[in-house]
Amino acid sequence: MNENISFTLNDKAVSVNTDGERPLLWVLRTDLGLTGTKYGCGKALCGACTVIMDGMAVRSCVIPVSSVKGRKILTIEGLAKNGKLHPIQEAFAKHDALQCGFCTPGMILNAYSLLLSNPEPSRQDIIDGMEYNLCRCGAHTRIIRAIEEAAQEMKGAR
Ligand code: FES
Ligand code: FES
Repeated sequence: MNENISFTLNDKAVSVNTDGERPLLWVLRTDLGLTGTKYGCGKALCGACTVIMDGMAVRSCVIPVSSVKGRKILTIEGLAKNGKLHPIQEAFAKHDALQCGFCTPGMILNAYSLLLSNPEPSRQDIIDGMEYNLCRCGAHTRIIRAIEEAAQEMKGAR
């Protein structure tokens, strides 16, 4: 049954009228046109669909859209501010931490959540925190290097 679902998306209030059981991923991509969030497995296994909900990384392929009522959602489209890339995005570009780019939005947002909860991670913390985001192109080593540099950069900005 359709219902009205209001939430904050990338700092803007949005409202959709839809079946609350639909996964957030498809509402973002199909209803709201934000295709940066990717569909990989649909089973919470790969991390391609990662978005941030109230500061925490979540897998939007398994989140019913009804559960985001009143929450704050950040997608990859909302990460750059005032035309300036976020330090994690800058570091990914600098270190070529992507190949096809399919996993990249989820990787960046998972790293964002990781650095929010642990601003000074060890290399092992980064490896552990990113373990369940999969990259079929095998860019993991460069991804870890990029997150290490972004952490340093963000520390300098605090
Ligand atoms: S598409 Fe959601 S975790 Fe793979
Ligand atoms: S860059 Fe291709 S899946 Fe990661």
